[in-house]
Amino acid sequence: MKVVYRSFRTDDLARIKEITVAAFDGVSIDRNIDDLLGPVASQSWQQRKARHIDADLSREGATILVAAVEQHVVGYVSTWIDRASGQGFIPNLAVDQQWRGTGIGRQLIDAALEHFRQQRVAQVRIETLEQNAVGQSLYPAMGFHEVARQIHYCMNLDGADRDATS
Ligand SMILES: CC(C)(COP(=O)(O)OP(=O)(O)OC[C@H]1O[C@@H](n2cnc3c(N)ncnc32)[C@H](O)[C@@H]1OP(=O)(O)O)[C@@H](O)C(=O)NCCC(=O)NCCS
Repeated sequence: MKVVYRSFRTDDLARIKEITVAAFDGVSIDRNIDDLLGPVASQSWQQRKARHIDADLSREGATILVAAVEQHVVGYVSTWIDRASGQGFIPNLAVDQQWRGTGIGRQLIDAALEHFRQQRVAQVRIETLEQNAVGQSLYPAMGFHEVARQIHYCMNLDGADRDATS
């Protein structure tokens, strides 16, 4: 099956969010928060995670590249550019479960890197969670260097999280 890599169109957005919500189950900070502290926020982790795509698109020099099979979007990578620093960022990457393991994720990152080169970006940043085995394997394999690890904290203000254990 031929996979086509192209820039996203506005009518891809709903499908990109659908892939995002399915793909980040288990590898999302928002999902971790709901699991540990309960669904306290007024939106579910799925709604919050889907809105990350809107946030990605609102950034400077933003674009999303999609992988499509017979017009059907099966994966995407989001990008934005900090022109002042010359750094490119890859905030989100996901491939539909059915299409994983066939090289699409790697091709999407390659497409993002090519996009950044064309935009004269000097350095590219990407991040992953410690619980994400694929990210920790794929990104170094593609040439990224680990530069830092970060710990995320969250608390409920109504005291409902007092019994939560990490
Ligand atoms: C990350 C993701 C986009 C990769 O997509 P993919 O199309 O399956 O990627 P590829 O087929 O190009 O494979 C990528 C590499 O991951 C490796 N890989 C797959 N599953 C793995 C696992 N559980 N542990 C370690 N490596 C794994 C593959 O062997 C491959 O390595 P290679 O290219 O050196 O052979 C996909 O797994 C996904 O959508 N995951 C959920 C969302 C996510 O984690 N996004 C990234 C957030 S940082």
